Amino acid sequence: RVVPVILSGGSGTRLWPASRSLHPKQLLPIVGEISMLQATTARFGGDFGFAPPIIVGGEDHRFLISDQLGESGCAPAAIILEPQGRNTAAAIALAAHLAAASDPDAILVVAPSDHVISDEAGFRAAIAAAVGPAQQGYLVTFGIKPDGPETGYGYIEIGDELPGLAGVHAVSRFVEKPDVAQAQVLVEGGRHAWNAGIFVFGAAAYLAELARHDSDIAAACDAAMAAATTDRLFTRPAAAPFLASPNISVDYAVMEHTDRAAVVPVDIGWSDVGSWNALWAIAARDTNGNAVQGEVVAIDSHNCLVRSDDGIAVALVGVDDMVVVSTRDSVLVVPRCKSQDVKRIVDELKARN
Ligand code: GDD
Ligand code: MG
Repeated sequence: RVVPVILSGGSGTRLWPASRSLHPKQLLPIVGEISMLQATTARFGGDFGFAPPIIVGGEDHRFLISDQLGESGCAPAAIILEPQGRNTAAAIALAAHLAAASDPDAILVVAPSDHVISDEAGFRAAIAAAVGPAQQGYLVTFGIKPDGPETGYGYIEIGDELPGLAGVHAVSRFVEKPDVAQAQVLVEGGRHAWNAGIFVFGAAAYLAELARHDSDIAAACDAAMAAATTDRLFTRPAAAPFLASPNISVDYAVMEHTDRAAVVPVDIGWSDVGSWNALWAIAARDTNGNAVQGEVVAIDSHNCLVRSDDGIAVALVGVDDMVVVSTRDSVLVVPRCKSQDVKRIVDELKARN
């Protein structure tokens, strides 16, 4: 059975001020009634034949994570707690060690907890198509048809179909988060897909590729898991070796370098809810194109995302293409097209404190 590995450690700074370090976006009901973590575990629950998931998240969030899983009836295999995040290459390595310890041939599906997927049956079919190539040692990605020069994604150049593996293609090149000029070229060329950020690979195959391309991360995670402690569902990697790991995402550390990457092009209603603009794009909108939530008045205003989380009346007149988010202690105003820059606010606020 395929083991879901759910990454729940990011801070979601581009969704400030709704997303905060103690309540990051994946633990909030950003879309719908349940948190994004709960929506993610539900995708692998039920009778779909997945093994119980391994969750990887931060020590600070242990109770939120375990309460939310309990609430939604998800019984994980383990919750791995990082003393502090060292990014996704390391987080996945911890889970790969744990899975390989009980099954050296374990196949993982690594899923971020900040995505919306509207065609869940299509999603599971795509995973099923990836298992065969993963058993042959491929690191399988999922390619989304791009609809603009987004700079927040990885770009996958789709190569030839792999012999004997219908629907699975070689990856000619993987470019993580290009600048806008390069993204424009890649989109116009028509041969690139966005990386969905979901991966299917063998635990052992991943650890081997990580050791090949970033031996510092691999060594740190080997040592951290060799000395890990377990307390009921919680697994804690040894802090000192883990914190020595470089802080690099799986995309930069492994996917840009590996020659074992494959891609399954998919059309599954996928959306990364990584920014306020992305949320606007998938939200229900009124006839003026506004997506509003809470106590909001919008007059002669169009294509805005307006959110009032704490009973404060927010009113707009004659405003187009803006994001306005009001919470108990903060107000954000940003043009939709600059949503990616919200993380700069968080950096600035951190620098002040
Ligand atoms: N446990 C843990 N520890 N989880 C983490 C950490 C960490 O240190 N850092 C990030 N995560 C989690 C986030 O919560 C999220 O669910 C997932 O890992 C991916 O991290 P993001 O920070 O959201 O990555 P991204 O969106 O910038 O880029 C990735 O996803 C894109 C698609 O959504 C890349 O894979 C891109 O190539 C891809 O296009
Ligand atoms: Mg993301």
